[in-house]
Amino acid sequence: MVNIIRTENYQELSKHAADIIQATIENKPDCVLGLATGGTPIGTYQQLIDRFREGKIDFSKVTTFNLDEYYGLSSDHEQSYHFFMFEQLFRHINVPPERVHIPFGLPEDIETHCQYYEQVIQDAGGIDLQILGIGENGHIGFNEPGPSLQTGTHLVPLSQETIRANSRYFASIQEVPKKAITMGIRTIFQARRIVLLASGANKAAMIRRLLDDNITTEVPATLLKLHPDLTILVDQEAGSEI
Ligand code: PGA
Repeated sequence: MVNIIRTENYQELSKHAADIIQATIENKPDCVLGLATGGTPIGTYQQLIDRFREGKIDFSKVTTFNLDEYYGLSSDHEQSYHFFMFEQLFRHINVPPERVHIPFGLPEDIETHCQYYEQVIQDAGGIDLQILGIGENGHIGFNEPGPSLQTGTHLVPLSQETIRANSRYFASIQEVPKKAITMGIRTIFQARRIVLLASGANKAAMIRRLLDDNITTEVPATLLKLHPDLTILVDQEAGSEI
């Protein structure tokens, strides 16, 4: 079932997402969270940091798994998703670093690392709540539009649209990595609950297509309709076409 929650603006969207994460941790202090990077969840992570500082959330038993990482960037590279996650969230809260998992951008053997990532998710008991953003091209994680989608964690070439969209974080478009390691569609679907966040007018058309289009791997977000527990949180702009 798709549950759509409309919020006034980005601030309200971030608060609402943080409420969902906080409630998940309150219900299950040792829960497993699936986390996302990108611009959209930054406000949510700030909310979580504020609530941690106010003593309202304890992350000491929480385990986290991130969706993806650029291939070819080391964990301390400033554009890596490792760096992003520690800057935007982890170093400000009390989640134990050994419970934090992010695909590694420089694996010795890609296949072995991807299998390892899947195994660690299984060993942790699976993901209770997966936070997702959505690409303007309909990608989820870095599962890019195409004639087919891979199931488990894998190496993926990034689409031109994604490279262009993400170049805003790099000095030039040439510096954007051309590949990434991402959870696959099955990995994401195994999460017991998915909460997708979308903010801004540039996401409005894709949110409409997610809901209205037939399911197709050419728009990976359309697959989300098949998940039994999907919540879509939109602000006014992202929800303006639905
Ligand atoms: P954004 O990215 O939050 O920076 O818009 C979302 C995505 O590409 O999945």
